[in-house]
Amino acid sequence: METKEFDLFQIHSRNYLEMAMRTDRHEAPANPDGYGKRTGDCGDTVEMFLIFRYGRIQNVSFRLNGCLNTNACANTIAQLAEGKSLEEAWKITPEDVINYLETLPKSHYHCAELAVGAFYLALAEYSRLNRSAPYRWRK
Ligand code: FES
Repeated sequence: METKEFDLFQIHSRNYLEMAMRTDRHEAPANPDGYGKRTGDCGDTVEMFLIFRYGRIQNVSFRLNGCLNTNACANTIAQLAEGKSLEEAWKITPEDVINYLETLPKSHYHCAELAVGAFYLALAEYSRLNRSAPYRWRK
């Protein structure tokens, strides 16, 4: 009987592999400036934590209960978002994540939507907190 091996390294882009394998952003800072949590129809959950400095995203970290594709998507969002202002960060879309990764399977495009959804919730919280208390801005 022939065994078909599934070789992740043969079928995926370098960007995908880098983003899928990274685990150094798996953390939950105690006092994030923005926090968002979203659970998808598939049952996976992404939590995003944002740290801002001088009005720009300094650090994005996350916790997830999800698949390798979701990890790749969350890492991509972090990479795209760090250094951006709030206005610039709102422009990051699931399509940006899919384009960056190049080989995210079509059947997992919802992972990009889920991760971006959690990211948007974190941006919304940051926005809400800073509209009512601008002195919270970290320097
Ligand atoms: Fe559910 Fe990836 S399979 S978000």
